[in-house]
Amino acid sequence: MPDKKMKAVIYEKYGSPSVLRLTELPIPVITSSELLIKIEATTVTSGDVRMRSSDFPPLYYIPGRLVLGLLKPKKQILGHEFAGTVSACGDGVKRFKAGDKIYGTTSGLKAGSYAEFIAVPEEKKGCVLGKMPESISFGEAASVPIGGMAALDLLLKGKIEQAEHVMVIGACGSVGSFALQIARIFGAYVAVVCSSSKIETAKELGADQIIDYQTQSLTSSGIKYDLIFDSTGKYRKSELLSLLSKEGRFVSTKSLTAEKNDYLLQLTEWLEQGKIKPLIDRCYTLDTIREAHKYVESGHKSGSVVIAISEKEAEQWNEQKRY
Ligand SMILES: NC(=O)c1ccc[n+]([C@@H]2O[C@H](COP(=O)([O-])OP(=O)(O)OC[C@H]3O[C@@H](n4cnc5c(N)ncnc54)[C@H](OP(=O)(O)O)[C@@H]3O)[C@@H](O)[C@H]2O)c1
Repeated sequence: MPDKKMKAVIYEKYGSPSVLRLTELPIPVITSSELLIKIEATTVTSGDVRMRSSDFPPLYYIPGRLVLGLLKPKKQILGHEFAGTVSACGDGVKRFKAGDKIYGTTSGLKAGSYAEFIAVPEEKKGCVLGKMPESISFGEAASVPIGGMAALDLLLKGKIEQAEHVMVIGACGSVGSFALQIARIFGAYVAVVCSSSKIETAKELGADQIIDYQTQSLTSSGIKYDLIFDSTGKYRKSELLSLLSKEGRFVSTKSLTAEKNDYLLQLTEWLEQGKIKPLIDRCYTLDTIREAHKYVESGHKSGSVVIAISEKEAEQWNEQKRY
């Protein structure tokens, strides 16, 4: 019997968005410890763009190529975070059953969510899965795991405390928008750095103070910060360290962050309580994913760029854009 097919976007060489190609592949076959997920939404992250273009900083170029594939990508389907429905479970799967709406990330560099189906292990270091909050859509759910977990991990590593002064740089990006909202949950006073076009969004997300980096210097608030969270890597570290109080700490998305089921559970709770809201810039489909990559490459998106598997859903989302 011929394999059942699914739509997937693959890349067979590194390069510009034009290397992405929509094709048909067999639906993955699961092992006893895996789930087959029918994906409803995924995202294009800045990490996906870097993997596609192999645009790593000089120090990471060789290690990056060794991991991803020296001359061409070893793993042809990109995409790390997703939301969808469990289509089938292996005999050994305990936490989920067919029909559950779930969201999460693939295992580290494994990727594979630019497709209609993905097989993921239930328990594996780096592969995070959780039941989706009922209050949000698949597109919103897909935009949470990577940015949300990176933000939570770095704020915890930065030992954030109530009533502290926190600066979030790039506060309307995918990681930054969660860092801003989560810092507020911890009870911090949050000053953010963003461009003029993102001021309204930063206010909606709860910023206490806004520094427009196009017209103001980072020192304009006159505050010494207890914690600086840089999600951009655009500033000299020495400049940022000079803005810290004596006991101040600095965290950056340049460092590796942990992804854990416990983090996703915490984010799920906050989403259900309405304490955090996913920020979505715009929505594309698998057919238009090259345009999504071009847009993300600009480095100025607001929150996440979602890929809806259903064209109708992408259209509806773009029509009733929430921000
Ligand atoms: N360590 C990890 O596990 C991890 C996880 C996820 C992402 N990351 C990394 O974290 C970084 C951010 O990812 P992201 O997905 O949040 O990116 P993003 O969504 O593209 O956000 C970057 C934000 O930075 C802002 N920005 C650009 N130049 C700026 C400047 N000079 N000053 C202040 N803000 C500026 C942009 O908005 P404006 O229009 O306001 O400029 C944009 O909203 C990427 O390098 C990514 O690879 C790391």
